[in-house]
Amino acid sequence: MKKITNICCIGAGYVGGPTMAVIAQKCPEITVNVVDINEQRIRDWNDSDLDKLPIYEPGLKEVVLEARGRNLFFSTNVEKSIDEAEIVFISVNTPTKTYGKGKGMAADLKFVELCARQIAKVSKNDKIVVEKSTLPVRTAEAVRSILDNTGNGVKFQILSNPEFLAEGTAVDDLHNADRVLIGGEQSTEEGQEAMDALTDIYAHWLPKERILQTNVWSSELSKLTANAFLAQRISSINSLSALCEETEANIEEVARAIGSDTRIGAKFLKTSVGFGGSCFQKDILNLVYICRSMGLQEVADYWEQVILMNDYQKRRFADNIIKTLYNTVSDKKITFLGWAFKKDTNDTRETAAMYVADHLMNDLARIEVYDPKVSSKQMFADMNYLNSRSETENEKQLKAHSDPYEACKNAHAIAVLTEWDEFIDYDWQKIYDNMMKPAFVFDGRNILDRERLEKIGFKYYGIGINS
Ligand code: NAD
Ligand code: UGA
Repeated sequence: MKKITNICCIGAGYVGGPTMAVIAQKCPEITVNVVDINEQRIRDWNDSDLDKLPIYEPGLKEVVLEARGRNLFFSTNVEKSIDEAEIVFISVNTPTKTYGKGKGMAADLKFVELCARQIAKVSKNDKIVVEKSTLPVRTAEAVRSILDNTGNGVKFQILSNPEFLAEGTAVDDLHNADRVLIGGEQSTEEGQEAMDALTDIYAHWLPKERILQTNVWSSELSKLTANAFLAQRISSINSLSALCEETEANIEEVARAIGSDTRIGAKFLKTSVGFGGSCFQKDILNLVYICRSMGLQEVADYWEQVILMNDYQKRRFADNIIKTLYNTVSDKKITFLGWAFKKDTNDTRETAAMYVADHLMNDLARIEVYDPKVSSKQMFADMNYLNSRSETENEKQLKAHSDPYEACKNAHAIAVLTEWDEFIDYDWQKIYDNMMKPAFVFDGRNILDRERLEKIGFKYYGIGINS
C-alpha cells in the first residue's frame, strides 16, 4: 500500500485547522500543509502567541505547539501545496445558499467547486481528493466530473471522509473518535487502495474497528443524517419542555428518566434555549431540500419540523421574558450571560443568543452582554448579519462588556444563553444587590442553582422546570 508523506488541506477553519493539527501530531512522518485564501486567518494560525490562534478549543494550543513548524504548516500558498500533496482534503465552508435556486435551503457548493477546479488545474500527478466538508449526497459525482475533464491525464480517487467533531471538544473528539467514516469506490482496486491509504493515517491513533469503510454515497448521506438525528433529539426534548411548563412535570427529571433506557441513551437530551452552531440548521435544511427535490415531500416535512421546533423554542424563551417583565421590555436592560452557541468555543454562528436578542430588541429592550470568549465586534457582526435594523440602531440597543458584574449592574433581568461553567459560581448575592428589583433570572440552559438564587431573592425561570 502506498505510504502517504504529504497532505494538503484546503480550508483552515474550525474543521481544517484542528483536524490537520491532530493528523500532524499523530503522524510526524507526514508533512501537512493547511492552506486558506483568508490571509488574516493564516497569520493567526502562525502567530507565536498561541492565544491568538483563530479558533479557541481546549487542548488545541498544545497540539499546535507540538506539530507546527515540525510537520504542520499554515500558508496561503494553495497551488504549491496542492501540487506537492498525495492527498488533498477539501475542508471549505458549505453554507446555506443565499441566492437563486434553493435559496435558504440548499448547500452553496461554489467553494467546493472552486477547489475541485483548482486541484484539476494544478495537479501534475495522481492524487486522492478527500471531501472533508459536509456535502449533499452525490456531490462526489460533480467533483469527479470536474476532475476527470481536465485533460492533463492525471488520475484522481475521490473519497468522502466527513468530520464528526463538535466544537468545544474538537481535540478530544479527534483523539478519541467514536468512528471515522471513509467512503470510496470499493469496487475498483484503485478505489480500495485510496481508502486503505486514508485508513492507515487514522490508524496511527485509532483502533482499526472504529474506521468504517462504505460506498461514497452512504458516507456523504451519513454525515447529514447524523446531524439530523442529533438535532432531532434536542428539538424533541425542547418540545417537551414547553409541555412540562404547563403540567408541572420537570424536564430534567423527564430527560433523566427516558435517557436511562439504554435504547434511548442519556446524551443530547439537555433542554436549552435552542440549538445553534454552523451546521445543524444548515445540514437539515439541505436534507429537506434534497428530499423535496426528489419528490419525497413527507420525508422533507418530517425533518423540517426539527428546525421549526428550534425556532419556536428561541421565540418562546424571548416571549417568556417579555411576558414576565409585565409585558414590556421597552428601554429595560436585559443582560445576557453568554453569546457563543455553546460553551468552550468562541464560535457564534447561528447562536440562539442573537435570535433571542433580535426578538427582544424588536420590543425595544437594551441588551448588554458578557461572554468570556466572544468579542464585541463579533456580536455586532452577528446582529448586523440578521439585518433587522440599522447598524446605528444595533449600536444603540446592544452593548458588550468585559466584566460580568458590570454587565449585570442595574439590569431588570439576566438571561443565561450559553452554559459557560463560570456563570454557576458567580457571586450571585453581589449581582442581586446591584440589580433592579424584582430581580429576574431566565436560565436558558438550566445550569444555575435555583434554590440558592431563590434564597437570595431572585425570581428564577428555567426551561421546562417551573413547577
Ligand atoms: P470555516 O468557515 O470555519 O472554514 C472554512 C475555510 O475555508 C475558511 O477559512 C475559508 O476562507 C476557506 N476557503 C473557502 N474557499 C477556499 C478556497 N477556494 N481556497 C482556500 N480556502 C478556502 O468552516 P468550518 O466550520 O471549518 O466547516 C467546514 C466544513 O466542515 C463545512 O462543510 C461544515 O459543514 C463541516 N463541518 C463543520 C464542523 C464544525 O464544527 N464547524 C464539524 C463537522 C463538519
Ligand atoms: C455538531 C455535532 O455534534 C458534531 O458531531 C458535528 O460534527 C457538527 O455538529 C458539525 O457537523 O458541525 P457542534 O454544532 O459543534 O457539533 O456542537 P454540539 O455539541 O452538537 O451542539 C450543537 C448545539 O446544540 C449547541 O447550541 C448546543 O448547546 C445544543 N445542544 C446540544 C443542546 O441544546 N442540547 C444538547 O443536549 C446538546
